[in-house]
Amino acid sequence: MTYRELLTIGTALLEQVILDDAETDAAFLLEGAAGLCRQELLLKSGKEVPADVQECFMGFINRRAAHEPVQYILGEWEFMGLEFKVSPSVLIPRQDTETLVELCLEDLKKGVHNLPLSVLDLCTGSGCIAISLRKLAEEAGLPLEVTATDISGDALAVACENAKLSEVPITFRQGDLFEALPEGIEKFDIITANPPYIAESERKDLAPEITEYEPELALFDGGDGTTVYARILKDIEAYLKPNGRAYLEIGETQGDTLLAYCEKFLKGPYEAQIVRDLCGNPRVCKIVFGEKHV
Ligand SMILES: C[S@@+](CC[C@H](N)C(=O)[O-])C[C@H]1O[C@@H](n2cnc3c(N)ncnc32)[C@H](O)[C@@H]1O
Repeated sequence: MTYRELLTIGTALLEQVILDDAETDAAFLLEGAAGLCRQELLLKSGKEVPADVQECFMGFINRRAAHEPVQYILGEWEFMGLEFKVSPSVLIPRQDTETLVELCLEDLKKGVHNLPLSVLDLCTGSGCIAISLRKLAEEAGLPLEVTATDISGDALAVACENAKLSEVPITFRQGDLFEALPEGIEKFDIITANPPYIAESERKDLAPEITEYEPELALFDGGDGTTVYARILKDIEAYLKPNGRAYLEIGETQGDTLLAYCEKFLKGPYEAQIVRDLCGNPRVCKIVFGEKHV
């Protein structure tokens, strides 16, 4: 059987159970099974597939047909052009989250003094925000000292592996939000976070790919989706330097609530704004503290 024929069979099997993207998913899985990139696969499309690759691919297709996400099957995924290991202990890095990293990098490139800047990434999961910021800022000549925290030890183990993979030094700490930090720690220039922000009431609308495979702790806050933001904002000023900045990823409907929380919990002075992604969806709550505003 040729690669092209195998891809057609895999796509047809997936089309019976998953609604969208059957061909794209089958192609990713064939690349993973064969250890080839998309271009190599195209060049080999009329060639015979070795039996072991065929067997591996059909195993992948069966797992995907049971709704397991492609990313967990492959065990890796790309974020900001970097490779990240992923396992069911961590949220799959989303393209949506690249908006936060790009915004933060853009601001850094506008000009900073007192390098290296210190960054705290709360709720780090796979480490995708912390690691890509550290790596891409370094490539732009902006040294950062990055600390990343998560309540889940299993997630931190994956993040640690990812930091090694990208060859960046990150300090990892385990604990509940700011409690992960040792007492008396210095304050940070930048705090980033993509906390769990799905309301319990939304669980029923989510795909099985999410609810059955991604970690509960990474998805739901146990309330209306905004409780972790409230906890972060209540404490954030104690951990930020004067003129520090915060970048919090938000759900599309949460912008107004975040601005109201800023007003309620921050002593100021500060300026908060909701930044939209390229599709026009509210995606990040950016807060600049101190007299010198956005
Ligand atoms: C939405 S995921 C984000 C992961 C990663 N930053 C990303 O953008 O892909 C949220 C992460 O927050 C962690 N988490 C949940 N509650 C937490 C808490 N109270 N303190 C620290 N981390 C928490 C979860 O374990 C999970 O890894």
